[in-house]
Amino acid sequence: MQAAGAMPALTLRMLFGQMLPYPDAIAPATTAGGNCSGTSGHYSGGKVNSEKLLENNRFWAESLRARDPEFFERLARQQKPEFLWIGCSDSRVPANEIVGLMPGELFVHRNVANMVVATDMNFLSVLQYAVDVLKVRQVIVCGHYGCGGVRAALSHEELGLIDNWLRALKALYHQNRSSFTDLDEEAGVNLLCELNVRRQVRNVCHTTIVQNAWARGQELVVHGWIYGIKDGLIKDLDTTLSARDQLDDTFLYEA
Ligand code: CO
Repeated sequence: MQAAGAMPALTLRMLFGQMLPYPDAIAPATTAGGNCSGTSGHYSGGKVNSEKLLENNRFWAESLRARDPEFFERLARQQKPEFLWIGCSDSRVPANEIVGLMPGELFVHRNVANMVVATDMNFLSVLQYAVDVLKVRQVIVCGHYGCGGVRAALSHEELGLIDNWLRALKALYHQNRSSFTDLDEEAGVNLLCELNVRRQVRNVCHTTIVQNAWARGQELVVHGWIYGIKDGLIKDLDTTLSARDQLDDTFLYEA
């Protein structure tokens, strides 16, 4: 982790090790089946009052300030994150938390199934700002096993508008369908989750944003990781790219 002058002095251990749980924390939903409709614990059918979240926020901010009075002032002046995170919107994969980073340390883009879509102005704007202005040095595409978006793409159920967002995943499955023949449903979902990360890493590098950064000599490394919801661990898929000669010629623009 780069230790820039403006980086916060706190560590995540200080934050989560000593400050959590909140005075009356919301218990995690029961996730045995991977869905979030559990009715045990404090969280029951969405009945947690949103006031509780605001109360948690005040506790969080006060606790941080108590340990580092300058923390928010320092962050307000500048953000200088080292990393851009591209992850799934899934509530079980909170970006900062699973990699132990504090506010100010991770620039984040999340969407359903951590897709990198060449016509998505939202994503392109995030990437361009992160690379050209913030000058992040590492991009992390992090998928997760058991991804609901990937599972939906492997089914024939019509879910609505989102089917169009996920259709590139159907194409990815179709392209690799011979690899799925001996797999049960769960293994198939997880294989497509991994293939998706690999594909999205390439898609990041196929943008003119990344290729122009490399052309001007800017250091930029793009990683592909996958998170295990069942054990909380991230696996590096060893699909890291950091130079144009690692890309297929088809996708290269003139340097
Ligand atoms: Co997901």
